[in-house]
Amino acid sequence: KIIASGAIRGAHKVFNEAEKLLFKHIAEKGGDYVFEFPDTAFYLPMIYAMTGFAVKTLNDMKEALMMAKELLHPEPVEKEWTPYLGEALDSGMATLFAEEIWLAMRYLEGLEPEKDPVTGLIYNGFITDTIQRNLGIQLVDGRMPGFAAIVGAAPDDDTAARIVRELQEKNILVFLSGMSNGETITRQLQRKKVELGWDVYVVPLGTTTEHTLYALDWAVRAAMIYGGVKPGDYKGCLKYTKDRVFAFALPLGPLDDVKWATGAGAINMGFPAICDSDVPVIHPTGVCTYEEVDKEYDHAKIVSKAIEVRGLKIVSHKPPIPIAYGPAFEGERIRKEDTFIEFGGNKTPAYEFIRSRELDEIEDGKIIIKGDNWKERYEAGGAMPLGIYVEVAGREMQPDYEPIMERKLHHNINEGQGIWHMGQRDVNWLRISKAAKAEGFTLEDIAKIQHTMTHSRFKAIVDKVQVTLFTDEADVVKTREEARKVWKDRDQRLGSLTDESVDLFYSCLLCQSFAPSHTCVITPERLGLCGAYNWLDCKAAFGIDPSGGNQPITKGEVLDEKYGRWTGVDVYIKASTGGALDTMNAYTIMENPMTSCGCFECIMCVVPEANGVMVVQRGHTGMTPIGMKFSSLAGTVGGGVQTPGFMGIGVNFITSRKFLYGDGGLKRVVWMTKALKERIRDAFIERAQEEGVPDFLDKIADETVAEDSEKLLEFLASVDHPALTMPSMF
Ligand code: SF4
Ligand code: NI
Ligand code: NI
Repeated sequence: KIIASGAIRGAHKVFNEAEKLLFKHIAEKGGDYVFEFPDTAFYLPMIYAMTGFAVKTLNDMKEALMMAKELLHPEPVEKEWTPYLGEALDSGMATLFAEEIWLAMRYLEGLEPEKDPVTGLIYNGFITDTIQRNLGIQLVDGRMPGFAAIVGAAPDDDTAARIVRELQEKNILVFLSGMSNGETITRQLQRKKVELGWDVYVVPLGTTTEHTLYALDWAVRAAMIYGGVKPGDYKGCLKYTKDRVFAFALPLGPLDDVKWATGAGAINMGFPAICDSDVPVIHPTGVCTYEEVDKEYDHAKIVSKAIEVRGLKIVSHKPPIPIAYGPAFEGERIRKEDTFIEFGGNKTPAYEFIRSRELDEIEDGKIIIKGDNWKERYEAGGAMPLGIYVEVAGREMQPDYEPIMERKLHHNINEGQGIWHMGQRDVNWLRISKAAKAEGFTLEDIAKIQHTMTHSRFKAIVDKVQVTLFTDEADVVKTREEARKVWKDRDQRLGSLTDESVDLFYSCLLCQSFAPSHTCVITPERLGLCGAYNWLDCKAAFGIDPSGGNQPITKGEVLDEKYGRWTGVDVYIKASTGGALDTMNAYTIMENPMTSCGCFECIMCVVPEANGVMVVQRGHTGMTPIGMKFSSLAGTVGGGVQTPGFMGIGVNFITSRKFLYGDGGLKRVVWMTKALKERIRDAFIERAQEEGVPDFLDKIADETVAEDSEKLLEFLASVDHPALTMPSMF
């Protein structure tokens, strides 16, 4: 009853505010005035998802607001018993619509992203499609098990910091919004000098409860981006957020009507709220559990309570070290003046290297530190040489797994709070902050991290892990030479793998938790479209977890050599997409191309006038020659459907010999962003030489010469681009 009447009152309040602002702007600017949130292809995402109505102008907003009005219920008479949750849920949805319009109006007024009137902090504001896609892969591979929206403020700064740190350690992405008693959690964290931002999984949205809508907008977009749910299919969208977006709210402090109303909106999406005031759990099943507050449980247990209520699966492994640990600390930066000691980074010789051994050659858990007075030299701070040499053994271990395990050394170290790591092999760079040192972090702890995490990440294949740290320059240089020989052999092996030379491809089904009908088919010459999984990664992943997200695909008979079609792949893809797809061609964009989930690094699409293709990477915000920005292009390729002429790809696929093999290959590229050109320059030039056009990179247009097709064609003609004289793509 409190919920219903509070939510109904709150809905009216938000609705009236939105209406007032909207009418003011219609009077000033006219109803045809166009509005867009920054970098999204989903208009006002909540309204778009729920109704299918693409709000583009102020008049459209008026229409959408009328839809919200239909959901409003008369304000409840005091003491009247409201028997069911329906009214609260309707009011909740109406509130979300009205909040979306209210925030849009604030954008018009230049008030968003909000600037904190007390601290001057600029909040995140609307969450763009680009950020959504950047995070996509972490959502599906288990690195980020859920999301929390903290609304309000904790009773004191220390409690605020503690709650957030606990969420961070569990890799839960935290959104901050709202206020209680004039205080906000964002300011509390700022006073405690807690780092804020996407890199550390703590994102301040704004100071009002209404700002929570940005997080809900983000959640509902996942249904359309990854789930292939059509805008307007509100049941589909709400079911998707309930089943697949593991979010919950932690409203801290007393609840007011707008909090009730927004909370009721979130319940529609399947998100429970766990409060610290006297209604501790609001559950989306429609039943409200009015639990008595157990004072003990309050803030120390609120996070674990939320995890239990929302049913999150948290697997966290923490090495026995004196600092906080988890992926949320990967993004932190350590500035020079905060550094206690550093290794590598061109300051000292350094490297990191994993090698497999026979079981009887090493001793599990053994840590060897070699070097004169290494303890004293570490305690003195500054810089020091460091070779990190990890030896592993296991019955299921194969040398092919070494590079994958070695790449994880970076994450292993970087996840320590106050530890920063960059690069790999012999171009690594490691910093330990003064704060981590003050917590008691030692050189030995680096080895402990590698021991624990190598075990935990690769438990199915590794039985023993031994770590040696070299700290004398001469030793580091000498052992680094040995490592370099091994790296060279490994690279040659990877480079010599071709699609023809293997019998098995691998699938990646990780994104099916978000995009149920998408399967990545990963071959030696085509990596996953997110860029994070190549054939060897998948092979290792299958070895590590045979029932996991990477499964072998028996190639079978070749059906089409040029287009890349095999009997075994067709059978697999049909089964794994629940019959959504019958067949797939790996080497063409024109006919039954591979589908996309939503986390592609790049989008490639045909530019018909130029008889070629263009490639644009995620994060590029400018216009492209086909008249669409990345964000709107992305809207056409996701959701696991085949769209001939459009395809999501990983960056490194561009320089594969199988890239567009059936369509004429690399020479089809007519436009590519400058950043992309830079990123793959060396490999690209090598491939261009093979194709007989050594200066080909210069013949490809980018955003500095053309952002429309007319300029593009002019440029292509001026450089004699090969695509112009190739056979027609159609
Ligand atoms: Fe998703 Fe494909 Fe990347 Fe796997 S390889 S995580 S399915 S995009
Ligand atoms: Ni770190
Ligand atoms: Ni994906």
